[in-house]
Parts: sequence; C-alpha cells; structure tokens
Amino acid sequence: MDWGLKNRLAHIIKPANNRAVMLAVDHGYFLGPTESLENPKQTIRPLLKYCDSLMLTRGVLRTSVDANYPVPVVLRVSGGTSIIGEDLSNEEITVNIEDAIRVNASALAMSIFVGGKYEKQTIVNLGNLVNEAEQYGIPVLAVTAVGKDMVRDARYLSLACRIAAEQGAHIVKTYYCKDFEKVVNSCPVPVIIAGGKKIPEREALELTYNAIKAGAVGVDMGRNIWQSNAPVAMIKAVRSIVHANANVNQAYDLFKKLSKESPKQTKPQSKPQQTQNKSKNKQKKKQKKK
Ligand code: R5P
Repeated sequence: MDWGLKNRLAHIIKPANNRAVMLAVDHGYFLGPTESLENPKQTIRPLLKYCDSLMLTRGVLRTSVDANYPVPVVLRVSGGTSIIGEDLSNEEITVNIEDAIRVNASALAMSIFVGGKYEKQTIVNLGNLVNEAEQYGIPVLAVTAVGKDMVRDARYLSLACRIAAEQGAHIVKTYYCKDFEKVVNSCPVPVIIAGGKKIPEREALELTYNAIKAGAVGVDMGRNIWQSNAPVAMIKAVRSIVHANANVNQAYDLFKKLSKESPKQTKPQSKPQQTQNKSKNKQKKKQKKK
C-alpha cells in the first residue's frame, strides 16, 4: 500500500486500536434538510471534537465547517438522486478528483446499490473511482444497502460488502444485522456500520457494541447521534464503546450522566446577561466620546 493511502486511512481508522468513529452528516445529498440537520453548521459544531472523521458533501463542508479545524474529511462524491425521485440507485459520481484534493479529503465515499435497478452502473462507478483515487493515494469507502427496499440480512449484506471489496473499496460501510460476523468475515477490508433510523439511545449503543464485538472497526453514525436529545452525550457514549471498550451498561450510564450536563441546543446560545451589559456599557462610553 502506498504511503499516502496508508497515511490517509490512518486518519480514519486509528492505528493505535484499529477503530473508527466517523460522524455521518451527508444525508442532505438525497434527503434535503433532514430533521436535526436543517442547519448543518449548528449540528456539526459541538460534535466535531468527538469524532475521528466527518463524512459529508463538499457543499456542507465548504459552507458549514471551519477550515481551521483539523478534522479528517470523508467526502461523499456520489449523488444525482433524491428521496422523491424515481430510483435512488441511479447515482453517478458528482465530484471530480481535483476538487476532492482541493478540500483535502482523507477518503472518498460513494454508494453501490447491489440488487437495485442501477446496480451495474454503481458498481462500475466504484471501480472507476478506485482507479482514479488510487492514483493520488486516496482511499475509497463504499456505502452499501441504502434504500428502504433492501433486505438487510447477513446473506444480502455479505454479498454487497464483498462486491464492494472486490472492486477495490478500502473500507465498506453497511448496516448491522443478525450473524454480523458472517458479513465481517467474508469481507477482506474493514467494515464500519451506519446507525440507521433513530432508535432509543440504549438500543443504538447496543447496536454499536454488538457490531464491534462481531468485528466491525467502528461506526459511521448520523441520526442516532444528532437526532438524540443529547448529541454530545451520545457521541461520547458511542466513542466509549468504540475506543475504550465500554460495555452497553457503562456506555448508557455515561450517556445518562452526560445528557443532564449537555442537552441539545436547538438555538444559538444567547450571550450571558453580564456580557451583554458589559458590551452595552462599552457602546455608551463610545457614544459619549463621539
Ligand atoms: C446514507 O446514505 C448516508 O451515507 C449516511 O451517512 C448513513 O446512512 C449513516 O447515517 P445514519 O447513521 O444516520 O444511518
């Protein structure tokens, strides 16, 4: 493996323990303003320091993430469909490699739709993207099994993940299922799980724990973090499982404790009274001087 590719992969999967906490905020690319991600800047900001990498589109990256903050970026480069359109699987590659390099992407992400109407197109897209990305030492993450019609069992997910790896994907993202070891064991590259639709926090932590136990290297989680009533507490709890080997009870206790300290902020915090008064005083003094 080339040095650059290895180095970029290490931004995403931490070499110290071979684990990864990726925060997924790319949903808008086909869902539009999803609940709790209407204002991406506001959603992402408090969570940034608790993720190892951030998965998103170039539009949200450029408009909603501070370029001075050193978070590795997993750039969503496929799209072209919407939730109200005819077929979600009809995706193309929408970002060229030059732009991915310009935003300093640590990895590129795209979806394949195994069993979908446009299965062939998306799998060929993956092969072509790997060809291009490897020239620049950029790893590719293949997202599998998105779409409400997919039967997410071990048989199907093993098929989809293995096909992604055979095309040269360096990481595969999929959904947790019963007998998940079968999916991991038949996929020769690291597997991470998506969280899926919002479920109660304890169940999401259980999902994380079980996936790690079955051999997943980590999570690429979105809704179960930022749709929680306490997103910071939730990402920290998820992190405790992935990076500190916490069990479900320990992680859930941590979530409950932290959620009291840092509940969700739906509006930007207003300035404390004292500060407001101070600035009013300053203004008065200035006016007097004039
Ligand atoms: C789906 O197409 C997106 O890639 C999401 O990033 C992915 O589903 C993970 O997010 P969530 O945990 O909300 O399922």
